[in-house]
Amino acid sequence: MRSLFWRLFLINGLVFTAGTLVLAFAPVTVSATVNPAEIPVLVIGLAIILATNALLVRAGLRRLDAEYLASGALAVAAQEGERQRIARELHDEIGQSLTVALLSLRRVADQAPELREETEIAQQAVRASLEDVRQVARRLRPGVLADLGLRSALRELVDEFSRTSGIDVVRSMPKDLPALGREVELVVYRVAQEALTNVARHSRATSARISVSVEGRRLTLLVADNGHGGDYPEGVGIRGMRERASLVGADISVTANAGGGTDVRLVIPDAVRGA
Ligand SMILES: Nc1ncnc2c1ncn2[C@@H]1O[C@H](COP(=O)(O)OP(=O)(O)OP(=O)(O)O)[C@@H](O)[C@H]1O
Ligand SMILES: [Mg+2]
Repeated sequence: MRSLFWRLFLINGLVFTAGTLVLAFAPVTVSATVNPAEIPVLVIGLAIILATNALLVRAGLRRLDAEYLASGALAVAAQEGERQRIARELHDEIGQSLTVALLSLRRVADQAPELREETEIAQQAVRASLEDVRQVARRLRPGVLADLGLRSALRELVDEFSRTSGIDVVRSMPKDLPALGREVELVVYRVAQEALTNVARHSRATSARISVSVEGRRLTLLVADNGHGGDYPEGVGIRGMRERASLVGADISVTANAGGGTDVRLVIPDAVRGA
């Protein structure tokens, strides 16, 4: 991608060159002391130069915008690829060796009944780690997103969240979500995931609400809780949501709501394809 500086320099250079050529060859003259009759000519000339410049710069920046969004999509894809690789390694390698450890502990318990109590404790610890690893792997790789689409993936996320946190969540999502890009789905899913994690970790809420709404091409995700709110010093979580949002040209806000809890609102203006 050519740098912004050179692009603007080129556009301005072209406009100035064109202006100079017109001055050189057009049948207009400007006296050393400008006479009043020449002022309209100067003003019109200047207006043409400024308008041409504005049009070209805008076209140039629009292309830059498109390139930025495209590279954002690439970044989301790369990040997701990396997460899937880590998820696979966690699941296949660490999960595998923990399973082997579990099996050998069982054999020890069988062969040395006098150690049963100790091996039982060790087995429990290994089983807990195995469950942790599986859970981390599952969180890293939203396989359901690819398999079942955003609606079901969110439903599953919310169900698991309610089960583990004990916080009630009211869901509201349109029955038929329109076609969304892969990156858009990922961003919505990841933002919902982090927002819910924050509800569980920080809000002391008893209930929460998640809603997805679509209006024209715009999609809005809202995760609201009835907890005690906060002043939201930006940690890795909120910063990550912000970065992900900016990759698809979206806006995110984390604010106190009327009930004293927290609203996380993600607005993606250009979410729906071809609407
Ligand atoms: N739903 C919420 N209710 C109350 N406070 C919240 C809520 N969400 C975020 N916060 C506040 O905002 C802070 C920043 O959140 P952020 O997700 O960026 O970081 P974190 O959750 O502390 O750590 P991590 O980087 O692991 O996500 C939190 O530490 C908390 O103080
Ligand atoms: Mg967090």
